[in-house]
Amino acid sequence: MTGGRALGLALAGSLAAGVSAAPATAADEPAGGAIYTEHCGICHGADLSGEAHWSRSAPTGAVPAPPLGKGSHAARYSREQLTTIIRWGVDELGMQRYEPTMPEFDAVLTEDEIAALVGFLIRRRADP
Ligand code: HEC
Repeated sequence: MTGGRALGLALAGSLAAGVSAAPATAADEPAGGAIYTEHCGICHGADLSGEAHWSRSAPTGAVPAPPLGKGSHAARYSREQLTTIIRWGVDELGMQRYEPTMPEFDAVLTEDEIAALVGFLIRRRADP
């Protein structure tokens, strides 16, 4: 787990430049992208590709941070579901059989910041 996390961090660093350089497709894109880079990229990858070996769960059942971009499981979530997960964590979906790693951001991000972030995630689903 420690090794995977270290690799994830290295990956996040090397790809951060690519994300911030992505062209803006709507007014809130730069804000949402910056929020993603600051609060999410460290676990989910600067390019939304997830943590290294993200599909391999630990013996406890805990999973690494999954991808969030095009074709991912998370890309099927509605705007409301994404908002709920970001605000209150994955527990809200009642899917977890272990202690989730995904932090709750309700006390960290404002409503507008979460809306911009969700807008960014939804637009990134269309990216190749
Ligand atoms: C400390 C690492 C970490 C950070 C930071 C983090 N996440 Fe997560 N996230 C996870 C993990 C791990 C999961 C898988 C569920 C679990 O075990 O908590 C997850 C799950 C998710 C899911 C559900 C994915 C699915 O396929 O069901 C979404 C959506 C998500 N995160 C979005 C975000 C967003 C947006 C941010 C930034 C605001 C963020 N996460 C920050 C670790 C993190």
